[in-house]
Amino acid sequence: MKVKDILEKACHENILTKDEIKLLLMAEGDDRDLLFKTADRVRKEHVGDEVFLRGLIEFSSYCKNDCFYCGLRRSNRQAQRYRMQEDEIVEVAKRAYQMGYRTVVLQSGEDMYYNKDSLCSIIRKIKSSVDVAITLSIGERSYDEYKAFKDAGADRFLMRFETSNEKLYRKYHPGMSFENRIECLKWIKNLGYELGTGFLIGLPGQTIDDLAQDILLVKELDADMIGIGPFIPHPQTPLKDAEEGSVDLTLKSIAILRLLIPDANIPATTALGTLDPLGRQKGLMCGANIVMPNVNDLKYKLKYELYPGKICINEDATKCRGCIESIIVSLGRKVGHGKGQSRHYKRAA
Ligand code: 5AD
Ligand code: FES
Repeated sequence: MKVKDILEKACHENILTKDEIKLLLMAEGDDRDLLFKTADRVRKEHVGDEVFLRGLIEFSSYCKNDCFYCGLRRSNRQAQRYRMQEDEIVEVAKRAYQMGYRTVVLQSGEDMYYNKDSLCSIIRKIKSSVDVAITLSIGERSYDEYKAFKDAGADRFLMRFETSNEKLYRKYHPGMSFENRIECLKWIKNLGYELGTGFLIGLPGQTIDDLAQDILLVKELDADMIGIGPFIPHPQTPLKDAEEGSVDLTLKSIAILRLLIPDANIPATTALGTLDPLGRQKGLMCGANIVMPNVNDLKYKLKYELYPGKICINEDATKCRGCIESIIVSLGRKVGHGKGQSRHYKRAA
C-alpha cells in the first residue's frame, strides 16, 4: 500500500493497522511531507488555528518511584527536592490566570506528602479564586482519590503510559505495573475527566513495532489529549549513556495521532523543543495545537529536572508567555481564548 492511500484511509476511517502505522513512521522525502501536510490540514479542519496555552505548575520534585529515565527518580540523591505549600500553589495559579492562562496543570512526582485532603483543598481553593480548568498530572492514585479530586473540581488528568511494551515497561519502572497504570487511566476516563495520555519516543530497546503499538493504545484508550515526547538521557540515571529519542519519529507520531483522533488536543512538548530549537514550531506544523509553558518561579524551575537542557529554565514566566505568543503568531496561528477543552471530549460527552 502506498503512503498516499494509507493517509486517505486514515482520514476517512480514523483507524489504521499496525503495519500501516509502521509504514507512516518510516516515511521519507515526499511521503513524509505528505504525512505532515495532511496532519496539518486535519488539525486545521478539526481544531482550527487556535493554539491553547496551559500554565504548568510543577509543585513537588519528590517522587516515590524509580523510573530509569527520569531525573526525579528516588535513587537520584543529587536531585534537588522541593515542595510548594498549599497557599503558594494557589498564588501561582492566580498569577497564571492574570497572565492570561485559562488552564493550569498541577504536576509533581508521585509524592504522597500531598494526600487526598490536601490536594482537594488546593483544587477547591484555586477553583474558588479564578475561573480556570485544572489538569492534574500526579501519577497513580486510588479510585477513591481520583473521584475525590474530580468532585473537588479537577477537570482533566494527564498520565502517560510511557510504553505499551510490557517487558520494557517492567524493565524501566521497577516496582510498578503496566496493568495498574492502564487500570488507572480507565478509571480516570470513567470518572469523566478529560483524559490525557501518551508515551516516550526512543527508550533504549524500543522498536518501530512498539511505537506503532503505542499509537494504537492511545487510540484504544480514546484519549482526549495526547502527550508524546522524545526520551532525553539524564546524567544521574541508569540510562545516562543511552541515545536520545528521535525528533523525526516524535513528529511523525504526532501527525499519525492527529489523523487517528482528529479532534484531540495535542501539545508540542517541551522535550521536543529541547532536542530541536525549532521542535515546538515543527510540532505545531504537523498536528499539534497546544503548548504548556512553565509558570513557576525560577527557583523551582531549575529543580524540576526530568531531563537535562530543558528550554526556558532561565526565563521568567512572563517572558516565556511572550516568547510563545510570538512563535504562535509567526506560524500564522492564533493564541486560543477560553479554556480550550478538548473537542474530542465535548463530542463524546
Ligand atoms: N526524557 C524525556 N521525557 C521524560 N519524562 C521523564 N523523564 C524524561 C526524560 N529523561 C517524561 C515522562 C513523564 C513526563 C512528565 O516526563 O514521559 O510522563
Ligand atoms: Fe520560554 Fe521561549 S518559550 S523563553
